[in-house]
Amino acid sequence: MELDTVSSSKPSGTAGGPAIDAVRAYWDAQVDNWKIATFTSGTPEFFQQVERYRFEKLEYLADVVDFTGFSGQQVLDVGCGLANDLSRFAAGGAEVTGVDIAPRAIQLAEANFAQRGLLGEFHVMDGERLDFPPESFDAVYCHTVLQFTPDPVRMIQGIHRVLKPGGLAILMMVNRRSWMNLLRHVMRVEVDHLDAPVYHRVTRAEFRQMLSVFRHVDVVPERFPVPTRVHRGLKALLFNAGFVTVFNALPRAWTRGSGHHLMAFCRK
Ligand SMILES: C[S@@+](CC[C@H](N)C(=O)[O-])C[C@H]1O[C@@H](n2cnc3c(N)ncnc32)[C@H](O)[C@@H]1O
Repeated sequence: MELDTVSSSKPSGTAGGPAIDAVRAYWDAQVDNWKIATFTSGTPEFFQQVERYRFEKLEYLADVVDFTGFSGQQVLDVGCGLANDLSRFAAGGAEVTGVDIAPRAIQLAEANFAQRGLLGEFHVMDGERLDFPPESFDAVYCHTVLQFTPDPVRMIQGIHRVLKPGGLAILMMVNRRSWMNLLRHVMRVEVDHLDAPVYHRVTRAEFRQMLSVFRHVDVVPERFPVPTRVHRGLKALLFNAGFVTVFNALPRAWTRGSGHHLMAFCRK
C-alpha cells in the first residue's frame, strides 16, 4: 500500500537502514524538547508537567484506554517515549515493558519510573524488529509512533506476533482526512513533528487494511480541537475563541470522521 508520507528524508523502505537511523537521531534529540516545559528535563516536575499537558490535549485518551484494566497482565509499549502512558498501566497493576528506538527516551523512561516508585523493564529496541518470543504479551500499546516509523505495517505485524492469542493491541495512526490537516492547509497552522524524518497519514480504510492481520478491529477517530496553550497572537485567539468553540458545538456524529487520531482496538 502506498502511504501518504510527509517527510524530510523519504523512508528507504529498508527497515533497519538509513531511514531508521534518521528516526533514532531525530527522536533522541526531540525527547527532552517540549515547548510547554518550564522544568529541567528528567525532573519529577518535568514528567508531571508533560503528562498533564498530554492528557489535557488528548482529553479522549483516559476515556478510551482502560489503563487500570490490565492488573497482573503483561503489557508492552512500543515507542514508549517518556513512558508516561506506560506508568498509568504500571500504576494499575500491569507488569510492563517499554521499548523505544531512541536511547535518550529509554533513559528518561527509566528515570520517570524510578521517581514514581514503579517497576518496569525497558529496552532500546526498534519496534519494527521486536526482540521478544511470539505470544509474550497480553496487551500491546503503541501511541503516536506508527506515523513516525519507516515501515508501520512491519511494526504492526511484529506487534501481532508478540501478542498472545486473544490479546489486545491498542494502536494509533494519524488521520489524513482530519480537521487538523485541513486547518494546516487553510490557516497554515503548525503541526508538531512535521519535520520528523518520516510522517505517515492514512485514511480510516487504509488503517483497517494495515490491521487486517488481526481477527477483530475497531477503528475510532478521536482527538478533536482543544484550546491551544502553546501558541499566542491572533491566530491562537481565532483558533481558541472561534474554531474550537464552533467545532465542538457541532453534533459529534457530524464531525467524528475528522478526528485527528485514528485509535484502533485490535484482537488477535
Ligand atoms: C511522539 S513520541 C511518542 C512517545 C509515546 N508513545 C507517547 O505517546 O507519549 C514518538 C516515539 O516513537 C519512537 N519511535 C519511532 N519509531 C520507532 C521505532 N521504529 N521503534 C521504536 N520506537 C520508535 C520515538 O523514538 C519516540 O520516542
